[in-house]
Amino acid sequence: MIIALTGFMASGKSSTGHALAERLGWEFIDLDELCETTAGKTIAEIFEEGGETLFRRIEVKCLRQALCSAKENLVLALGGGTLLQGEAMDLLRGRCICVYLKASPESLLQRLSGDNGGKRPLLGGEKLERRIPQLLAQREAGYGEMAEFCVNTDGLGAPEAAEIICKKLNINEKQ
Ligand code: S3P
Repeated sequence: MIIALTGFMASGKSSTGHALAERLGWEFIDLDELCETTAGKTIAEIFEEGGETLFRRIEVKCLRQALCSAKENLVLALGGGTLLQGEAMDLLRGRCICVYLKASPESLLQRLSGDNGGKRPLLGGEKLERRIPQLLAQREAGYGEMAEFCVNTDGLGAPEAAEIICKKLNINEKQ
């Protein structure tokens, strides 16, 4: 089984993915990290070199690679914009159980306020108060469309979110 976590930047995909994989004893892949190791560059450097277009190209290639190399069970933390690409949706559809980690614009603003933009160049420039709701409005339908179910991560720690996912899917593996 492959569980793919989707949701906006800072919704808890990486931390929950980590906690979930740990709890289940499954393999964990963070797609952003895979992009950086594959490219041999940080996300900021990729954006500097070729903008969002280059990043999305690398991202979808890495997604394909992660899904191809997946052994039996995998937790995959997607990037906040992975689902913007039809190709990524096609790769995930039918192959993964997608879970939408949902956070309110207010808690996203709080979590992202201390962000220095390194891993998230799309948040640079404009005020976060405007940028977050704007991007969220463009993306929310895609997250919801792909997801089997949604977990609200407002005020929730990663272990708690992982527990909710395990209960929903009725899995509790580590032996
Ligand atoms: C992006 C989210 C980032 C990273 C890149 C683009 C996005 O990942 O993939 O900066 O388009 O929302 P996180 O969602 O892990 O922050």
